[in-house]
Amino acid sequence: MDVYDAVKSRRAVRGFTDEPVPVEVLQRVLDAARWAPSGSNLQPWRIYVVTGEPLERLKKLATERVAAGDPWDEREYQLYPRELKSPYVERRSEFGRERYSALGIEREDWEARQRAAIANWDCFGAPAALFCYIDRDLGRPQWADVGMYLQTVMLLLRAEGLHSCPQMAWSQVRETVADVVQPPDELMLFCGMSIGYQDPGESYIRTGRAPLEETVSFVSD
Ligand SMILES: Cc1cc2nc3c(=O)[nH]c(=O)nc-3n(C[C@H](O)[C@H](O)[C@H](O)COP(=O)(O)O)c2cc1C
Repeated sequence: MDVYDAVKSRRAVRGFTDEPVPVEVLQRVLDAARWAPSGSNLQPWRIYVVTGEPLERLKKLATERVAAGDPWDEREYQLYPRELKSPYVERRSEFGRERYSALGIEREDWEARQRAAIANWDCFGAPAALFCYIDRDLGRPQWADVGMYLQTVMLLLRAEGLHSCPQMAWSQVRETVADVVQPPDELMLFCGMSIGYQDPGESYIRTGRAPLEETVSFVSD
């Protein structure tokens, strides 16, 4: 697959079939993703791939927790600034509008939104997931490295006919994830990523983007 096609066809898929993802494919993708760049080649990502019974157990534990209204685990990092300023605040509400109108949910229907959100912890039905950790001693540049790594994984998944959804939602139940993957204490969970084959019945609206001029300036003579 052409890189442009991989970039353009990657999107956060929130509806997967239960078709298993062959472990050799995941190994091939993650083997290639090792070549993602990182400052001074620190390679600060630490990945746990979870499938089969452990993933089913994790989904069950997490969805039961969330459905019971359990409080989130203590945050290790803030997902967004408390006061999100312009233009980010508008972009976030536009995203919410797109996402919930695709599901036919009214903005004010808090319960339906909660039900849709719970699908996060069922990996939107995906049969495979990875959990991305980073050493808590590392700083912002290394978090950026991890982002590059994750995008590399997502593009390689497209080349294999697979889709993905990166999910910070998993950080809200990080202790449940830790119970299953048993990471060493020095690692903190950044996000999960659901992986699988897209359910053709998934209803979605393609999430838009700001026009090029809004985020890119060409400085030249
Ligand atoms: C680091 C990161 C965390 C995300 N966390 C979630 C999440 O918890 N749940 C979810 O449904 N989508 C999540 N997303 C997906 C974004 O909402 C999505 O990438 C964005 O709206 C753009 O849409 P697109 O990826 O479909 O083009 C996350 C994306 C990133 C990069």
